[in-house]
Order: sequence, then C-alpha cells, then structure tokens
Amino acid sequence: MQFDPVQQLTDRGWLERVRENLDRKLRRSVEAARGLSFIPYTTENGCFTPTDINWWTNGFWPALMWQMFRMTGDALYREEAVRAEAALDQALYRFRKLDHDVGFMWLIHSGVRYQMERNEDSLERTLFAAHMLASRFNPNGFIRAWNNWDASFHREGWAIVDCMMNLPLLYWASRQTGDPRFRLMAMAHADMTMKHFVREDGSCNHIVVFDPETGDFLENPGGQGFESGSAWSRGQSWALYGFTLSYLHTGKAEYLETAKRVANYFISQCADDWLPRCDFRQTPEPVLRDNAAGNIAACGLLELSRLVPEREAPAYFSAAVSILKAQERDAADWSEDSPLIFTKNTSAYHDLKGRHITMVYSDYFFAEAVGRLSGEEMLFWYPDDMR
Ligand code: GLY
Repeated sequence: MQFDPVQQLTDRGWLERVRENLDRKLRRSVEAARGLSFIPYTTENGCFTPTDINWWTNGFWPALMWQMFRMTGDALYREEAVRAEAALDQALYRFRKLDHDVGFMWLIHSGVRYQMERNEDSLERTLFAAHMLASRFNPNGFIRAWNNWDASFHREGWAIVDCMMNLPLLYWASRQTGDPRFRLMAMAHADMTMKHFVREDGSCNHIVVFDPETGDFLENPGGQGFESGSAWSRGQSWALYGFTLSYLHTGKAEYLETAKRVANYFISQCADDWLPRCDFRQTPEPVLRDNAAGNIAACGLLELSRLVPEREAPAYFSAAVSILKAQERDAADWSEDSPLIFTKNTSAYHDLKGRHITMVYSDYFFAEAVGRLSGEEMLFWYPDDMR
C-alpha cells in the first residue's frame, strides 16, 4: 500500500490556520501586483521591487496563483495567473536572454493551465520553452546553465545542480510530442549530475565546469554557497526534489537512491532545529538561514515519502512537516506589512544584500506543500499525471 501524506498529518489545526493565512495574505498581494509592469520576485519596505522580465523566478508568481486557485477556487487567483502568463511572452520574444531556467518559468503555470483548460497558447508557450531547454544540451552529456553575462566570461561549459528541477519540462515535452529526444537529454543530464555533483555523503556541488568541446571535468567553484566543496543548502534541496522528480518521470531506480542519499544528508544537517542554514558547511557566525531551501526540500520529502517503501516513508514525511512548521513559526510574516511571506531567504552566501530577504519561490514551495498536505492531486512538476 502506498504511503499517503494526506492521511498522516495529525495537526490538522496547523494546516487549517496556514491555509487561511495564505488566502488572507495573498489576496491582498494580488491587489498590489495587478498594476505592476513586472512580475513579483522580492520586496523592499513592504513593496515589490522591479525585476527584468527574463528573470528566472518569473514563473513562480503565476504558479503560486494557480496553487491558490486550486486551494480556494477563487477566480481572482486565476485572473492574476493568466495576466502574468501573458506578460511573460515578452521573455519568450527575447529568447536569447533565456537560460536553463525555462522549466521554472513555464511548466508550473503554462503547463498546468494547459492541463486544466486545454488552452492552445499555453501549450505553445510550454513547448517553446522545452525546445529552448533542449537547445542548451551539449552532446558531451550536460545542459548548459547560464549565458555569458559579459563577453569576457565564458560559461559554455557550466552546469549547475538547480537544473535538475528544469528536467520535468523535458519529460513532459516527450510525452506531449511522442519524441523521446527530450527525455533522453534529460536523463543524460541527470546521469551526469549523479556522477559529477552528488558526493558519497549525499552532499552536492553547486556548479561543475566542463570543457565544452571535450566534456572533460575542469573545476567546481563554490557558486552560491560558502566555498568550493561546501554544501549550499538550496542546491541540496534542488537535488533532493529534482532526483525525486526524475525518478517519478522515468522510474530509473538510481534516481530514487540518489534522492534518498541527498535527503538523508539534508535531514542530518538540520534535524537539530529544522531551520536550514544557507550552507551546511558555513561558519557558525553569522547564523544565515535559507527558508527557500527548507520549503523546496519539504516538497521533495513529501513526494519522496510516497515513492519509497512504506517502512521508510514516515521519516521523510515527518522531516518535511517539521521543516514547514519550524520555518513558519520562525520566519513567516502573515501581517499586512509586506506582500510576501517568508523573510529569511538568502540569494547566495556572499551576496550581502541578498541575506534574509523575501523571495516569491520560497512562498510558492510553501503553498505547494500546504496544497499537497491538503490533498491537492496535481503535482505542478508533472501536471499531466493526475494521481
Ligand atoms: N540559481 C537559482 C537559485 O538561486 O536557487
């Protein structure tokens, strides 16, 4: 029998309270977002701050709106999701500025909307995004992550662990088109990530640089973490959830084993207070947190609990709930002072201005977890699998 997270939560009062808080808070945020010429990412002094239309997080706002629509049935959230989806077409037109994050940018709202409404424009957008991602595949076996932000710094051979979360777009595209190329590229990339990113103890590199001509390993810089060889917690959470999803989409057993190894490491590093630090190998001071890592990991752990043998499931399930509750208690701002919720997200360890800020995707993953605990059947990373 499959472990069912919805049946396991004993503290239904907590779930009811956060569902009410999400709705109360976010319907005000929609009012604040409606008149904007950009898509919400973060805030300053209680207001959304402008971002470029090609910014990698721009799919999370409409995806959050769809989560809320499915939780409440209120058309206000659908309207805002559709508005943001149309606004994002500007990013498709400026396609040379897109990078590997097109999965984040389209699958979890356009792909979701297509599944619900069979809207042709949403199908076109999501398929376009999948073709963009496939075009970044280097035949040496990896997907190129970032572009060259300036002409002198070449990133043709850069792969990053975050990309594991973009692979569901390729799996989805293979099912939609009947063409296995997308899935085969995704699996080649996932296999490469197992080999070059995931360490024996379940911790992961953030970045690996390859020679783009030969595919030879060159180096692994510290990226958004503390230093090379450290364990940036959000990278660990991308790997945890990403390998779980690759297993779900392909059934390849090594992906499940890898997801478990990363999950066990993640749990071992935050089980003292369930408040993940920005990097599990950072110095004790400053005490830098990353709520986004915790909320992403919680979603991954909830999904993992449904996929592992039943006797292994409770440990993953209770770790997910412990993280969600601890972070909500410690860092959720349910007041009317700001349109976003979680306050202790960190963009990168060495980005001093990006420490303990709000981030739309942290809130997105919290809402996803709350939805799944409430019985939401659609996994936005696999919208065509209505279990
Ligand atoms: N590079 C995406 C992230 O900040 O997690």
